[in-house]
Amino acid sequence: METLVEQVERLKRERDAVILAHYYVSDEVQAVADYVGDSYYLSKVATTVNQKTICLCGVQFMGESAKLLNPEKRVIIPDANADCPMAHMVDLDRINKVRAEYEDVAVVCYINSTATLKQYADVCVTSANAKKVVESLPNKTIYFIPDEHLGRYIASQLPEKQFIFNDGFCHVHTSITADAVKKAKEARPKAKVLVHPECKQEVLELADYIGSTSGIIAYATKSQEQEFLICTEMGVFYELNKKNPDKKFYSVGHRQFCPNMKLITLEKVIRCLQEESPLIEIDEEKAKQARIPLERMLKLS
Ligand code: 13P
Ligand code: SF4
Repeated sequence: METLVEQVERLKRERDAVILAHYYVSDEVQAVADYVGDSYYLSKVATTVNQKTICLCGVQFMGESAKLLNPEKRVIIPDANADCPMAHMVDLDRINKVRAEYEDVAVVCYINSTATLKQYADVCVTSANAKKVVESLPNKTIYFIPDEHLGRYIASQLPEKQFIFNDGFCHVHTSITADAVKKAKEARPKAKVLVHPECKQEVLELADYIGSTSGIIAYATKSQEQEFLICTEMGVFYELNKKNPDKKFYSVGHRQFCPNMKLITLEKVIRCLQEESPLIEIDEEKAKQARIPLERMLKLS
């Protein structure tokens, strides 16, 4: 009898499919993926794979980005309900109002956003490339959507730009409190604090390093230190432990868990490959507009 992993391997061959997974999906799904990475890496790698089907193990906006960048490929997602609440947290009326008020504004849209929202953006960014992309824009005024926390973090590094913020947030990262980090640090005073920029300012202030998921993994891997407090979703522990079996990684609380990412299970990956569904489909007119800021991001970063 075939194991679940063997079934995945066989179906990948039969369907000419490649599996791309984000660091936040469960360990068993990361283990069967051909490519695992942060949002920036996944969008880049999606443009280079040869297989005719991409099985995107992550949330909807990641599947949409893969589809926008590869309109001719079949993109499937193991659970169509795996969605990121922050991806919807912008009011279209507000975008129009800001555009009307500030002639020089660039609407900078975090990749954690729906294809519908991307249609209204000038450029996309991820947490790994936001500073570089925004810095390279000729515009002085930046309307950063949807994540307020990443927006404020990037603004603090680019004082020459004038930022307008939006009140979107990630419920997983904002559930991490400064108190929890301080308590964890008291218990393990030698540990370095590694923080994702979707966290609140009070948590960023306690960080030894701030960066995207892949930035956090790269920092811990290069570091001579032995203990780390990890302020992002728990899924990164799989890669952290794989790359650094002798180092110790600790969470700072029990809510560092994205229920949306964890909807992707091995059983659903198998069904998705078998049925080549659920499909990511984007209306052609919408895709034409939404692709522009994504491709611009890839050029600028
Ligand atoms: P990165 O992997 O780009 O750091 O993004 C984190 C995230 O919240 C993805 O949903
Ligand atoms: Fe969205 Fe936060 Fe989950 Fe990432 S961790 S998918 S930003 S809810």
